[in-house]
Amino acid sequence: MRLGSIILFVALCSLSAYYVYEPIPEDIEQRWKLMLTNTLFRSLIHLADFSELVGLKDYMGVMYAVTLLEIIAPVSDEHVNVTVDSFDGVEVLLYQPKQQSGNTELRRALIYLHGGGWCLGSSYMSPYDLVARRLATELNAVVLSVEYRLAPAHHFPVPYEDVYRVVKYFLQVGVLAQYSVDPGRIAVSGDSAGGNLAAAVTQQLLKDPTQKVQLKAQALIYPVLQALDLKTPSYQQNQDMPILPRTLMVRFWSEYFTSDRAFFRAMMENTHNNPESSTLLKFVNWSSFLPETYHGSYNYSAPAMAQGQAGMESGGAFPSLADPRASPLLVPDAALRSLPKAYIITCEYDVLRDDGLMYATRLRAAGVEVTHEHYDAGFHGALMFTMWPMDFLIADRMLDNYVKWLKENL
Ligand SMILES: *[C@@H]1O[C@H](CO)[C@@H](O)[C@H](O)[C@H]1NC(C)=O
Ligand SMILES: *[C@@H]1O[C@H](CO)[C@@H](O)[C@H](O)[C@H]1NC(C)=O
Ligand SMILES: *[C@@H]1O[C@H](CO)[C@@H](O)[C@H](O)[C@H]1NC(C)=O
Repeated sequence: MRLGSIILFVALCSLSAYYVYEPIPEDIEQRWKLMLTNTLFRSLIHLADFSELVGLKDYMGVMYAVTLLEIIAPVSDEHVNVTVDSFDGVEVLLYQPKQQSGNTELRRALIYLHGGGWCLGSSYMSPYDLVARRLATELNAVVLSVEYRLAPAHHFPVPYEDVYRVVKYFLQVGVLAQYSVDPGRIAVSGDSAGGNLAAAVTQQLLKDPTQKVQLKAQALIYPVLQALDLKTPSYQQNQDMPILPRTLMVRFWSEYFTSDRAFFRAMMENTHNNPESSTLLKFVNWSSFLPETYHGSYNYSAPAMAQGQAGMESGGAFPSLADPRASPLLVPDAALRSLPKAYIITCEYDVLRDDGLMYATRLRAAGVEVTHEHYDAGFHGALMFTMWPMDFLIADRMLDNYVKWLKENL
């Protein structure tokens, strides 16, 4: 009896030690706190895997708990008037500063797109609410936080199109006037999958011949920018890093396009490219676009094409793979040339590091003004960890720098 309890106790201890302990690089500050925070994420991923395996609830349905934990009701305060609205049928949260701008003085505006791998997240989460409030007060800007629809219920291009519709609606001269917004001082921004949507919308607006008002700036926070090579050095180096392990990012990508699990497996192997996407590999060639210091000990080899998996032999089966509205890195230099100035955050311990680095290289080469901030001890999602008990010092620094750049550049 006694022995049984001891064995059980030891088993439980080693199980939780296994759960909590995960090698986290020495140079990350507040390592133990990150390890504990990550335990929550890892447990949820395991629960989602298990639940899917036994057919209880779908994977992303379980993962959605991450979102629900932090959802709050948006309320106005003494500085900001917060309202829920619908722009061309898409729900938006509107943050309007209360401070009087002079009679004729127009305001800046920022359109914010939340992260969560196109499958999770919401404008109603407290960390996003905090960012929107800070931007509204410190920049005296109108902030629009877009509640776009999510995958897998709505695959690509629905989330992208929701965002595009909101942006097109808002950028009409009459609508801008209604909110006292200066048409020359509007930016789009987002983190992670939101950074993907922000970059894609910025490119597509520029191509749109009917579009009169254009964006002044784009601020991309550890953005996802390409689906063709999921074995860049950062994907390999950081495959087990906190918050966003490679498996989860690959899962997000595959769910964005399709619920077909064969596609997920091919993406895990990096053999998901089709003949059409293969011709675009040159735009995501890290051997050319990644500064030498980030190559590490990795050697470039072009991702292989899918071999005989159902539905993937033909280039037409998953055409979105080659679509720049999903992978903004896939456009030729000419399409980058006239883009508005960019602010890009990358983190060393992030599978998406190289996406951001490659975009910075390519934009600069095309003559676009780029401010690139790389956080040597940064991890994916850092900017959102501003709320107790999951608050990290790096989040405050990152948020301060981000707001500062917008203050000076928008
Ligand atoms: C907040 O905005 C709403 C909608 O624009 C408006 O009706 C309301 O008067 C505003 N409230 C304040 C306190 O400014
Ligand atoms: C990638 O770049 C390297 C070096 O610049 C080059 O040798 C290789 O052929 C390129 N591969 C592709 C698929 O673009
Ligand atoms: C990359 O290539 C170099 C030289 O050919 C080799 O020494 C090294 O082991 C390779 N690295 C990996 C990770 O395969």
